[in-house]
Amino acid sequence: MQKLFVDVAKVLPYKNMAKIRIWPHEDICPDGAEIESLPEETICEAALRHNIKIEHACEMSCACTTCHCIVRKGFDSLEEATDIEEDLLDKAWGLEQTSRLSCQAIPPEDEEIEIELPKYNINMVSEDH
Ligand code: FES
Repeated sequence: MQKLFVDVAKVLPYKNMAKIRIWPHEDICPDGAEIESLPEETICEAALRHNIKIEHACEMSCACTTCHCIVRKGFDSLEEATDIEEDLLDKAWGLEQTSRLSCQAIPPEDEEIEIELPKYNINMVSEDH
């Protein structure tokens, strides 16, 4: 059976989507990008839906740090990280005060955030999901 994939953002009239500006990253997003996230969608999910391949070695289950991002704008609008996320972030390359795991951070509706993807992560081999 053939599966049909539809970008729901293009067919459903969501009005309150968050905007996410992704700073240029040499490998993942060379020109940078501006995308929108659906309600309750994490930064990582939104990026992947827009074909921006943020690493996510644990399949977004909050068990690695490969999806690490640094929130450059709108950090305070995000819900606080859980203790588990904080513990994992301690192992992330290039940790900063506004670091988050992009698979755990959900931008609020109508918010604008900016993120930077660190140059490196602890995943030695890209799985290219
Ligand atoms: S993908 Fe593993 S913690 Fe986000």
